[in-house]
Amino acid sequence: MAIPEKRNGLESSNLEDQRFWMDKDEVFHWLTVDGKNLEELWIRADRIRRDAVGESVHLRGLLEISNHCVRDCHYCGLRAGNQGLRRYRMTEEEILNGAHKAKVLGYGTVVIQAGEDPALSGEWVARLVRCIKEETGLAITLSLGERSLEELAVWKGAGADRYLLRFETSSKELFQRIHPPRSGTSGSDRIILLKNLRQLGYEVGSGVMVGIPGQSIRDLANDLDLFRSLDLDMIGIGPFLPHPDTPLGGYQFHAGQEPMGPDSQAPNSESMTYRMLALARLSCPQANIPSTTALAVVNLAEGKELGLQRGANVFMPNLTPVEYQRLYEIYPAKVHPEEQMARSRKCPEECIRAIGRTVGTGPGPAPSMARRLLD
Ligand code: 5AD
Repeated sequence: MAIPEKRNGLESSNLEDQRFWMDKDEVFHWLTVDGKNLEELWIRADRIRRDAVGESVHLRGLLEISNHCVRDCHYCGLRAGNQGLRRYRMTEEEILNGAHKAKVLGYGTVVIQAGEDPALSGEWVARLVRCIKEETGLAITLSLGERSLEELAVWKGAGADRYLLRFETSSKELFQRIHPPRSGTSGSDRIILLKNLRQLGYEVGSGVMVGIPGQSIRDLANDLDLFRSLDLDMIGIGPFLPHPDTPLGGYQFHAGQEPMGPDSQAPNSESMTYRMLALARLSCPQANIPSTTALAVVNLAEGKELGLQRGANVFMPNLTPVEYQRLYEIYPAKVHPEEQMARSRKCPEECIRAIGRTVGTGPGPAPSMARRLLD
């Protein structure tokens, strides 16, 4: 039993007892209510964020180490079928330089992300993880797609701390429609994979896209239930952004028809993304939730800050060399990386301080992980 600790006048042990979560009707209310009436949701999400994970915003240095991918997901610009994309794979030296940069900048974590690239072999990644750990001591998050249990176990043993794999949608039918199985396989089950990651001792992250064609408001409500039943440590949420070189590329922006009901198409709008972010905070108070790059794409001026004020507590500054960033085009960026940096002027630390928060220090694990160890 944890010793209650005073924090903002609230005893932290109360957090477990408080019932933040809501019934389905209330979830539908927040997902469909007119955009002018969301202030209460933002306030609740922000308060619970503060009580459960505090005022620190953790910085994770993101390295997009390869844009090769063997999968053909219908929404993603890295899909194998996109033959117009020039492919790259960073060298071990480039990656280690990136990790050192994260360390120098004072970040506690480096995130190693790539398409599903079998050339990043189990052994090669294990060596990389060992080197990063030895040379920098940083927490290491891997996000390398659906990999075998053996590989995931070896990487954990080598020193990886966390793994990110979004389940994208809790609707099995929609998931299957947009994720053709790898040739020679019968399809994957990311939920089982996420449970296996937990068994292996990883901090487990997942998440969804908001507004996938064919995704209903009901599906979004079910996504939130799944976050909660998986007891996720990290949750990434971003709007679906059509990429022209993919089967879903012709889909138009969907603002949401009025009035919306549970069976309406989920809009891929900025508002719906914030609603999901805020509700994710209420469903998993102790999770680390990033304010995602996709949010900054839909609202360059203030998307990232609004994300932090509506439930998020993590930033993932991109430390990938700019010539590669341009090729890691999961979805089309409205502005190129160099221009984005020039236009957004403020560095992440300034953004964080400007909204009255503090810059996190150390690896910044999710409190849910510590709670689970005590249980
Ligand atoms: N729009 C928005 N998000 C996308 N992702 C991939 N393609 C797109 C897109 N077109 C997200 C997926 C994936 C993560 C790495 O990026 O959720 O898990």
